[in-house]
Amino acid sequence: MYYPEALVEEVRLRNDIVEVISGYVKLQKKGGRHWGLCPFHNEKSPSFSVSGDRQVYHCFGCGAGGNVYTFMMNYENYSFPEAIRALAERAGISLPEPEESEDVRRKENRRARLLAVNKEAAKFFYYQLRSPHGEIGCNYLRKRELSDETMHKFGLGFAGKNGTVLVQYLRGKGFRDEEIQEAGLASHSEKYGLVSQFWNRVMYPIQDIHNRVIGFGGRVMGDGEPKYLNSPETPIFDKRRNLYGLNYARRARSSNIILCEGYMDVIAMHQAGFTQAVASLGTAFTEEQAALLRRYTENVLLAYDSDGAGVKAALRAIGILRNAGLTGRVINMQPYKDPDEFMKALGRDAFEERIRQAENSFFFEIRVLEGQFNLSDPEEKTKFHREIAGKLCEFTEEMERDNYLQAVADKYFIGVENLRKLVTAYASRSGLARPVERPKSGVHKKGSPEDKAKRAQQMLISWLAEEPGLYEKVKKYLSPQDFTVDLYRTVAEKLFQSLEQGTMNPAGMISTFESEEDQREIAALFSVSLPSVETGAEKGKAFRDILLSVKQNSYAYHTAHMGTDMSALAQAIEGRKALEELAKTHISLD
Ligand code: GTP
Ligand code: MN
Repeated sequence: MYYPEALVEEVRLRNDIVEVISGYVKLQKKGGRHWGLCPFHNEKSPSFSVSGDRQVYHCFGCGAGGNVYTFMMNYENYSFPEAIRALAERAGISLPEPEESEDVRRKENRRARLLAVNKEAAKFFYYQLRSPHGEIGCNYLRKRELSDETMHKFGLGFAGKNGTVLVQYLRGKGFRDEEIQEAGLASHSEKYGLVSQFWNRVMYPIQDIHNRVIGFGGRVMGDGEPKYLNSPETPIFDKRRNLYGLNYARRARSSNIILCEGYMDVIAMHQAGFTQAVASLGTAFTEEQAALLRRYTENVLLAYDSDGAGVKAALRAIGILRNAGLTGRVINMQPYKDPDEFMKALGRDAFEERIRQAENSFFFEIRVLEGQFNLSDPEEKTKFHREIAGKLCEFTEEMERDNYLQAVADKYFIGVENLRKLVTAYASRSGLARPVERPKSGVHKKGSPEDKAKRAQQMLISWLAEEPGLYEKVKKYLSPQDFTVDLYRTVAEKLFQSLEQGTMNPAGMISTFESEEDQREIAALFSVSLPSVETGAEKGKAFRDILLSVKQNSYAYHTAHMGTDMSALAQAIEGRKALEELAKTHISLD
């Protein structure tokens, strides 16, 4: 273990999971637990639960789960040492220098080194821009009307004509060639040796939400190709999961976030005071980015280019936002191409006005559709109305669909009843009005004997955790060996041990497991709801059935794996006896 176990526990205990998660996810208390929208998958109704008693979280939708460490690691993308440092700081505990194992140190180091080399490269570019070598870049940015303050805030820099200077500089700072390469800052060429692909470009450092430089975008000076060159994906640079400007936007205290297409758009917006602007990283907007945005807002305004490509990208983004349960609206940039040009021409107040007028994404979609039909031709007009009906079918909630139906009917002068008929016809023809199938990950396929056995073991552990008092009544029938699923056996060992001592600590237990998979499953064990039964007698019977099923499976398993070992035979006979006794026993749960 990296930090002493007792310290890991202390830090955990001083960080109440409900408080910590509340800082990230809006939670509501209901029935002894706290519920919210899961930050790890897209959903519209809460299936993410946090238990204050257990100090664990679990999502019934996607199966995410763990303790406060797991949460920080998944949410903030921290390694374990980063998570414990953040939580220790939050609780005002000072940590000693960790005892590092060679292996852990190497892994930690690799990430830290990649961050360090990026940071150093950012410094290099920054000073280049402000040196005589950077004059071209500086003039370019001035021409684009960026103030010194803005350039500083975004750490803008410049890569000169010679791609080997960066490499020499980084070597001089003690970075090895492999590190420079792994960070995506240079690669080998026959002619020049190790050389950076970034040259003759204005450099935009890309920061994660903790302001750490994870990559770069570089814009060519003049008409070279490609116009923008981005760092490749590296262990610290995941283009699907980061957004340019989010480190600032998340602190903007705005009721919305503005999603732009380009780095320069974001910068121009921030300079004009719209510090809630972000952009994707040279690739199309992703589901992961939508989930990321949902941590900070429910309202996303699209400020995409007004040209054909921009409209297409906006339509795509609208779908992704909708799936993520976010409200998307589209800012009309006409007659300008993008926010940067708009702002330069008309200024911030005019843009503010456009934000107020931003169009509901559904109407935007319909308006784009409208442009594809000649509405003075009755046939085309009918097609257009059919397309509207098709779009309406995408709303799975009836009331929402009907509200949109009425609004769109009014707007395009279509008879409400006619449109309704069209929708019904469309829905029955294509089956589209059925509710969207939700992924059911985390829910096990039922049926096979293995699944049944696994389920019974799960339930038994969950039940004992829910009502620790039961342990005394059943311990003579039960041993950890009865759990044939490896993970459950280990959990049972630990659980029984602590129940013997009259304590119970699911969240602490989670930290003793290394794999995230295991942590998730254990959190699930300690989060499942028990079957709701009315009377004490029914409850007793339900519990005995589960116990019996676990024992039967254990007996079958151990006899099958017995071989010729005599002690195993004795154990099996013991098991048989216990089983018979148990079958006759009435367990009272009162
Ligand atoms: P300026 O011409 O500098 O104003 O650029 P812009 O910010 O208006 O960019 P544009 O609308 O051309 O492109 C928007 C975004 O798409 C850029 O910020 C880049 O992230 C990305 N992009 C543009 N061109 C390229 C390219 O050639 N390659 C890659 N990978 N990404 C690009
Ligand atoms: Mn532009």
